[in-house]
Amino acid sequence: MRQLVTTMIRSLFVLLFLVAACSGNAPDQETVPGRWYTVAQVESGAALYQMHCAACHAADGSATAEWRTADADGNYPPPPLDGTAHTWHHPLEVLDNTIANGGITFGGVMPGFAEVLSSDDRMAVIAWFQSLWPDDIYERWHSIDERQ
Ligand code: HEC
Repeated sequence: MRQLVTTMIRSLFVLLFLVAACSGNAPDQETVPGRWYTVAQVESGAALYQMHCAACHAADGSATAEWRTADADGNYPPPPLDGTAHTWHHPLEVLDNTIANGGITFGGVMPGFAEVLSSDDRMAVIAWFQSLWPDDIYERWHSIDERQ
């Protein structure tokens, strides 16, 4: 009898464990606290960024410290996307448009990625570089974005 009870209690624990493991979101589908994006978006964005953007904006998003200085042809170098430049002034929609259509549309030299990156891909890339931003910069961006 005692053994039966022990076995039943053990089975109950196993069952509870399985229920707990199956319910609840996978951790990477959860929103990063205080941010709009999920861990999964940051992860896929990191890979896409390294493939398509790192050549110009640097692997860590730091790009060109002298991003305010135009070259001899009047073109500006790639600005940092890591929160140290002014990327945070642009709402999500503007960031998305810049990545989709490039800077060429506003007299710049950055190519557009609409053919290469889907809307989800572009959101993931934005999530990745925003994950580099300190909270105060993110908050300032967030209040600009909300006003849109
Ligand atoms: C060939 C170099 C090059 C590549 C590749 C490139 N960029 Fe750019 N990017 C630039 C330049 C240069 C600018 C400044 C505006 C211009 O001249 O078009 C810029 C501007 C930007 C801006 C506007 C930043 C601001 O502060 O206004 C964003 C956002 C951006 N790039 C994101 C990306 C992302 C994301 C990728 C990859 C999908 C990427 N860029 C790939 C060169 C590049």
